[in-house]
Amino acid sequence: MRILSDGRLSHIAIIMDGNGRWANKRGLPREVGHKYGAGAFRKIVEYCGDIGLRALTVYAFSTENWKRPEKEVNSILALLRQYVDECEKNLNKYPAYFHFIGDLSVFDETLRARIERIEEKTKDRPLTLNIAFNYGGRSEIARAFSRLAERGVREITQEDISAELYTAPCGDPDLIIRTGGDMRISNFLLWQAAYAELYFTDVLWPDFDEKELDKAIEDFYSRKRRFGGV
Ligand code: FPP
Repeated sequence: MRILSDGRLSHIAIIMDGNGRWANKRGLPREVGHKYGAGAFRKIVEYCGDIGLRALTVYAFSTENWKRPEKEVNSILALLRQYVDECEKNLNKYPAYFHFIGDLSVFDETLRARIERIEEKTKDRPLTLNIAFNYGGRSEIARAFSRLAERGVREITQEDISAELYTAPCGDPDLIIRTGGDMRISNFLLWQAAYAELYFTDVLWPDFDEKELDKAIEDFYSRKRRFGGV
């Protein structure tokens, strides 16, 4: 599958849900589900680079995910660190502009500095990968308002708000995919989702592969987007 060059689809966002259930079905601890989930994520990033997508935004860890057991939270943090290590080691081969979005103040200084370095070194890649970590859509909007208030902007327009969102450089997603069978947005890209096409699949995230993404893309192209018009 290649993304059509008519510009209809340039940004896909994914809620990678179902890792825990994938592991439970196999009698394995949830952490193993996240490990396989991270594997599926790697493959999808590569594939999005191959098909010529401009932006991919993934929900790796929400502001609500801290409520999970410490062992599970630590396993997701470890996977992220491992991914940062890998990207740093393979910068030349890395297929995307590596960009974290969310409140990264929970990371230690060293990790933040490493992330910034990778961001700087990959920023010219054609595919932008936004990894949403410690991210919440409502707090992103509140942050945008605070930033506008700090600058003394009083007549706030929609464009002002969009410009203060983490995703401002790559715009709103055209397609939001949620795996794992649930049909909700879960505080992901709330502002940006206004006119996105939504695609829900029962496939659990670790089983989501290139073929499944192709299905979602085909479904997207079969839809007629009206953006409120007729
Ligand atoms: C939701 O599944 C998944 C998460 C909260 C974590 C997603 C994390 C990864 C895919 C690994 C991230 C790693 C990198 C390198 C970005 P769930 O645990 O809620 O599954 P369940 O609904 O079946 O319980």
